[in-house]
Amino acid sequence: MRIEGSVALVTGANRGIGRAITEALLERGSTKVYAAARDPKTLETLRERHGSRLVPVRLDVTDAEQVAEAAHLAADVDLLVNNAGVFEPTDLTDEAIVDVARREMEVNYFGVLRMVRSFADTLARGGGAIVNVVSAAGLSNVPIQPTYSASKAAQHSLTQAARALLAARAVAVHGVYSGPVDTDMTKDLPTQFEKASAGDVAKAILDGVESGEEDIFPDPFAAAFGAQFHSSPKNVERQMAAMVAIPA
Ligand SMILES: NC(=O)c1ccc[n+]([C@@H]2O[C@H](COP(=O)([O-])OP(=O)(O)OC[C@H]3O[C@@H](n4cnc5c(N)ncnc54)[C@H](OP(=O)(O)O)[C@@H]3O)[C@@H](O)[C@H]2O)c1
Repeated sequence: MRIEGSVALVTGANRGIGRAITEALLERGSTKVYAAARDPKTLETLRERHGSRLVPVRLDVTDAEQVAEAAHLAADVDLLVNNAGVFEPTDLTDEAIVDVARREMEVNYFGVLRMVRSFADTLARGGGAIVNVVSAAGLSNVPIQPTYSASKAAQHSLTQAARALLAARAVAVHGVYSGPVDTDMTKDLPTQFEKASAGDVAKAILDGVESGEEDIFPDPFAAAFGAQFHSSPKNVERQMAAMVAIPA
């Protein structure tokens, strides 16, 4: 997949990693980027900077009607970036944990499932690609983010399913397994975590897509995590567990 000349759609394009991916796509020569956001007003500065190559789209990925409308409008897309995601702090002492888990699943899993289903035919027409922005937390649960990690594990599993199911239709499916990235989502993370910049991560994601990597580890933390995970998933689980003090 070449970025130059591609037509992309990015969910959650208004801030954080999604905004950085949108800018990187335009810098590398995408012909058009549909920048999708719940509130298109938040895309105004991007639109001013990039002109008509950036097409704002109203899109809440939990809204089936808006997803169907976006798929109809963006029928020339050959690169779909499922970036939109949510994280809410919670733990097992929280009475609301089940509601938090449902809200995260609704965006991080069902939202991506809705998008993949709705865009599959469009992408299969020209042999396109899907990028699912998962997380290292989707490979091994990070217990300080327990329900978020579970929703990302579901998204990782969906990524594997989509790869297998769409292979015969020449659609490449990439999963992105970042470590901590400096965005609004991580502003309250404990300070011992070194955060990668969204711009660097966006560039590494596009490099991974162009070189055909199925599993993309786009920052130094992610690369080290990925290597450890592949050599011993159990050791990684124990390291993640050591981050929390488990009550007796
Ligand atoms: N930051 C990290 O350390 C990190 C690490 C690994 C993976 N990730 C993943 O990377 C992706 C982007 O995260 P980020 O760090 O850039 O987070 P962020 O700065 O909090 O941005 C989240 C984006 O998702 C959008 N969004 C949330 N709910 C949505 C919905 N229902 N429909 C459409 N858009 C929705 C937000 O839109 P609004 O502005 O309307 O809220 C925003 O554009 C997420 O999938 C996240 O899980 C992040």
